Amino acid sequence: MPEKQRYANSPATYEGYGSRLGVEKGAILDWGDYYFLHLRPRRLMSHEKWPSLPPCLRETVDEYGRELIKLCERLMRVLSRGLGLDGGRLQAAFGGGGDDDGVGVCMRVNFYPKCPQPELALGLSSHSDPGGLTVLLPDDRIKGLQVRKDDNWVTVEPAPDAFIVNIGDQIQVVSNAVYRSVEHRVIVNADAERLSIAFFCNPKSDLALGPLPELVTPDRPALYQPMTFDEYRLYIRKKGPRGKSQVESLKGER
Ligand code: OGA
Ligand code: NI
Repeated sequence: MPEKQRYANSPATYEGYGSRLGVEKGAILDWGDYYFLHLRPRRLMSHEKWPSLPPCLRETVDEYGRELIKLCERLMRVLSRGLGLDGGRLQAAFGGGGDDDGVGVCMRVNFYPKCPQPELALGLSSHSDPGGLTVLLPDDRIKGLQVRKDDNWVTVEPAPDAFIVNIGDQIQVVSNAVYRSVEHRVIVNADAERLSIAFFCNPKSDLALGPLPELVTPDRPALYQPMTFDEYRLYIRKKGPRGKSQVESLKGER
């Protein structure tokens, strides 16, 4: 506990060790802890906020980050082409590459302890990821992630050495809902704990992001009001996870 407290996060920075998203009193808590780190832009990355043990951790996370940034760039190219646009278009809309002044990259390591009455709790309440893309490294032995398909929750079967990729709210906004963010949640287990690592690739935080003009037509008007990711994320950090209501609230007047 003292070690956790040394790295405790605050709603202001979000970075470090914590156990709940959202600061509203009386909210139902999730049965999980997380450690949150910023990787890009580099000025937000401070190794002092990262655990110093095990000794290889900082170097390993740096390397993992560099490789996953490359993977996200490839995925964004594929998604751009899927919209009939130039391969670099989505990344450009997100503020471009570059370690200091482009997309934002952060990581959330989730820990879901054993829960004596798992039917009464969730490890992480229903939400869609607020940013662009999420590359999730799930625990390959223990199930836990569920995605919503219409009115059903479908449990994702982990495959060894595979990532799970989520579309986040900002890709829904920029693509004018051609792509839709996935609603998901995490269930807990009575006899096994579970770990996962979520890697988030987000737009540059101070750009006002709305639907790409190429995707707005008289038949398909812009569905979302522009907002910066800084504003959007602050709202979510205060309120906590709430299904897809947050991205829906960007529709029309606010
Ligand atoms: C998240 C998330 C899923 C999991 O961190 O946003 O949805 O399986 N995690 O831990
Ligand atoms: Ni998520």
